[in-house]
Amino acid sequence: MYIVKKKISGKEYYYLNKSVREGSKVKSKNIAYLGKNKEEAEKKAKGIEEKMKKTEQKISKINKPKIEQKHMNEKNTSKETEAKNLGSLGKELTIDSLANFCKKKGFVYPSGEIYGGLGGFWDFGHLGVELKNNIKREWWKFHIQERDDMAGIDGSIITSPKVWEASGHVSSFVDIAVVCKKCKNKTKIDKHELGKVKCEKCGGEFQSKGEFNPMFTTQVGPIKEDSVQAYLRPETAQLIFADFKLVQENARLQLPFGIAQIGKSFRNEISPREFLFRSREFEQMEIEYFIEEGMKCPYIEEAKEVHILVYDEEMQKSGKEPELMDLYEAWKKGIIKTDWHAYWIAKEFEWFLSLGANSDNFRIRQHCSDEKSHYAVDTWDLEYKFPMGWRELQGFANRSNYDLSQHQKYSKQNMEILNKDGKKVLPNVVCEPSMGVERAFLVFMFDSYYYDESRGNIVLKLNPKLAPVKAAIFPIVKQPEYIQMSEEILRDLRKDFNVVYDKSGSIGRRYSRNDEIGTPYCITIDEKSLKKKDVTIRDRDTTLQIRVKISDLKEIMRKLINEEIKFEKAGKLVVTRVKK
Ligand code: GAP
Repeated sequence: MYIVKKKISGKEYYYLNKSVREGSKVKSKNIAYLGKNKEEAEKKAKGIEEKMKKTEQKISKINKPKIEQKHMNEKNTSKETEAKNLGSLGKELTIDSLANFCKKKGFVYPSGEIYGGLGGFWDFGHLGVELKNNIKREWWKFHIQERDDMAGIDGSIITSPKVWEASGHVSSFVDIAVVCKKCKNKTKIDKHELGKVKCEKCGGEFQSKGEFNPMFTTQVGPIKEDSVQAYLRPETAQLIFADFKLVQENARLQLPFGIAQIGKSFRNEISPREFLFRSREFEQMEIEYFIEEGMKCPYIEEAKEVHILVYDEEMQKSGKEPELMDLYEAWKKGIIKTDWHAYWIAKEFEWFLSLGANSDNFRIRQHCSDEKSHYAVDTWDLEYKFPMGWRELQGFANRSNYDLSQHQKYSKQNMEILNKDGKKVLPNVVCEPSMGVERAFLVFMFDSYYYDESRGNIVLKLNPKLAPVKAAIFPIVKQPEYIQMSEEILRDLRKDFNVVYDKSGSIGRRYSRNDEIGTPYCITIDEKSLKKKDVTIRDRDTTLQIRVKISDLKEIMRKLINEEIKFEKAGKLVVTRVKK
């Protein structure tokens, strides 16, 4: 970088420039204005250079694994795969570097970090809480609000301990705690894995430390002798079953129907790990879908043309690779046993794709007979290709009428309902789509994280519906009339969207700051805005800009966020620079 002096109308002005390569030419590009005094200009230039170095170091630290991977790929790949690697969204990011990024930007922190944190507990920062709320809101809208056959509830975290006796969680929700004899890695395995599996870190033998139940216990009641031992719920599902009859009657639901819930769950995991992936406190989004035995799925056509990698028990046992299949066909061929299972898997996959997830990173895997939960007849998992490997994102268990029968037996209350012919039936849960909010959070972060070489910054390409901040409002200069106009726009947009006001730093810096946290639109108030009462909107992903009237701004923002209109069609396209 170097200082350039310019003489305009006899006065001297200093600028900081740097040489940049544009195609085959090297050009001098202006970085900052340094003022009219030579000594002050030199001081300012030094400060700017130091700041830029620090920022570059930070970025390269966050992207190190990604950049290393990129160089590895560069050696023997064709131009096409090279372009894909550069353009692909964050596959080179590790779970630890994502955790770092989340902490730096205000998404997620280790809980109570000033005291050293507590394993398996996380706090969501000012951006994390917005993203998490948006995920939950979109899930609720898609699964409850937009359907006739669903109702939602919000059960309590602590309930009668009898619920957990009836559900089988007290007696059967057990794992075996093991320690690796070689590397001392502590983990949990299923009962059936004892003596069969080796340590995933070093291949060493496991030593059993006995059975443990991951339910957290607590005392209800202030006087110890009179208090009752209760549990923090390990799944949200059980209150759906316990409240089943009330909800069915109150919401006047007719079979087939579903009851859904979003809420906190707790499991005293022996080794919480991989950032949010396995925590001790997490949130679940669960549906119990009830049918009368033998009822056909009227929505099965929706599974047609939905292609996903399928990995059933037979493929796993015979060492075959997963196969790309149409979900409808997979049901027709008997690979997926029920039409309901095929339908719900298709629906959940569709939900992820509608919010911008990358279909290449998903597959479904059937649970082998010896790994199913105590309540399950058949279970499939929707798995995601995390940097640490394929892992469960969402479970789809067929729980039959296990839970309702158990609650009927333990509570001595009749759990049957009338079918459309007036006959009493105990419904079956043919499918239970159950997912951790934090795992969905990770998927959207991984699939949207992108390092843009030309911009020199991270761009978090979150779907606008999920983005924590929908728009950032910039006055181009800090003069009162620009500030006043910006604040008026802010006050108006704020009533409907989470928007921020940003007046510090160059426009370029403000763009990159917002790219990094996934803000889809930046609204700039410039000289023309004062005269023409319009603004520019800049699109995060393409950097294209349009001009729109302030009076139309809110409605245009609404349409853009809801993907009802294409950006280029939402206003008058601004020609910002012509590339030669
Ligand atoms: N009601 C069924 C049930 O709870 P599960 O497979 O034990 O089934 C469902 O859990 C989902 O909850 C998982 O697919 C995962 O997304 C999430 N989940 C489970 N344990 C978790 C943990 N320790 N940390 C984060 N998410 C977890």
